[in-house]
Amino acid sequence: MQDIIISIQGGRPLAGSVVVSGAKNAALPELAAACLGPGVLEFSNVPLVEDVKVMFAALREIGAEGEIANPLGGDSQGHIIRVAMPVLRSPLVSQRIARTTRASVLLLGPMLARCGEARVSLPGGCPIGERKIDFHLQGLESMGAEIRFEGEYLAARCDRLQGIDFTFPGKTVTGTENLLMAATLAEGTTILRNCALEPEVEDLVVLLRAMGADIRMEGEDAYVIRGRTALHGAAHRVIPDRIEAGTYLIAGCFAGNEIRVEGVVPGHLGELLTVLAGMGASVSVSEHAFHARGGSMLHPAEVVTAPYPGFPTDLQAQLTTLLTQATGVSRVRETIFNDRFRHVDELKLMGADIDVRGDAAVIRGRTGLRGAGLRATDLRASAALVLGGLAAAGETRIANSYQLFRGYENMPEKLQKLGAAIAINRG
Ligand code: EPZ
Repeated sequence: MQDIIISIQGGRPLAGSVVVSGAKNAALPELAAACLGPGVLEFSNVPLVEDVKVMFAALREIGAEGEIANPLGGDSQGHIIRVAMPVLRSPLVSQRIARTTRASVLLLGPMLARCGEARVSLPGGCPIGERKIDFHLQGLESMGAEIRFEGEYLAARCDRLQGIDFTFPGKTVTGTENLLMAATLAEGTTILRNCALEPEVEDLVVLLRAMGADIRMEGEDAYVIRGRTALHGAAHRVIPDRIEAGTYLIAGCFAGNEIRVEGVVPGHLGELLTVLAGMGASVSVSEHAFHARGGSMLHPAEVVTAPYPGFPTDLQAQLTTLLTQATGVSRVRETIFNDRFRHVDELKLMGADIDVRGDAAVIRGRTGLRGAGLRATDLRASAALVLGGLAAAGETRIANSYQLFRGYENMPEKLQKLGAAIAINRG
């Protein structure tokens, strides 16, 4: 596959507004929900990023009909996807699909619920540590699925999934989503405990209810789902992408920048706002927008990633880049994934002074970053390198930038509008 190289002439001040796209991590499970019934699902505010295109292709492979439309024309954001699965023709998710995104695992529960069979090539996606799916499988087996590994495929079958009382051994976003979808068509009542509470999970529940599912929350982190025999079509607007919003908000905190991030749900980024305020960043919050103005003086921070509503692991790499600009020693502890500091070696090529010890990175600032030749390793690391390139003196080239386009819609164009000198070259 052709390499995509992003080149940035850094050190230019960024100013202006950026509108947040729909959330990739909401759109992915919501597209998978199309397997649950024959009706038409119409999604608006869909981010047309690579992972969404791959999920749409996966749905087509197993029998979906549908289209991706852009009401505003051109490359503007806010696409519409109409999709229906009148018949689930072949419950197989091929390696071609699954090797690029872990989200293909989200088809497992819906396919089993709809037709009692599923074959999914083992998930790919970001190399950010061990990406296990044992909690997904434990839950589905408890519901009566027989699951076995056949070479590179995971094969599952069941008569009709049975309602269960299941407690997740650990917080899992896609695990919660998989079992929520499976339970909507299971026999009887399912109780899922210790569920992930991310806004994207909540948005999936809004969609499933619109499709006729009987789901209610119980206590802090449990869902009670009464299985139905069928679900129907629905229309749904995808929530704004809090991780994209946080990425641009962090960009606005670099010296000399002033960025207004519009179309956000402020409550979705509480912990990031707290951390930035603690660093002395100048950030203001209005009903649907953030406004950040980069000062010259940022204090260091101590940050620990955690499941929602804690500090999101998906913003850890981007914040690490900002912390190279803080005056003093910061510490970032990554508790969600066991190998999510791959951006650090690249930032060190730009002159950053960072040491990774176990699950923590120690960042000594303030360092003047200088442009370098870098390589993106995963989706959020690529965003961290872009932020570094924008702040660095000189030119930065980032190879393997396909990673960026997996999860950020029109990022080069949005940054150019803010004054960045950024270009895409195909190697
Ligand atoms: C989702 O991944 C997101 N992806 C990730 O975003 C995000 O980083 C992650 O949640 C955590 O918030 C999508 O929603 C498509 P997990 P997911 O299951 O569901 C362990 C991005 O950049 N675990 O919540 O795969 C697992 O190893 C991506 O947009 C098990 O042990 O993450 C990890 O340590 C990257 N067994 C932790 O739990 C399981 O069965 C959290 O994983 C499942 C998970």
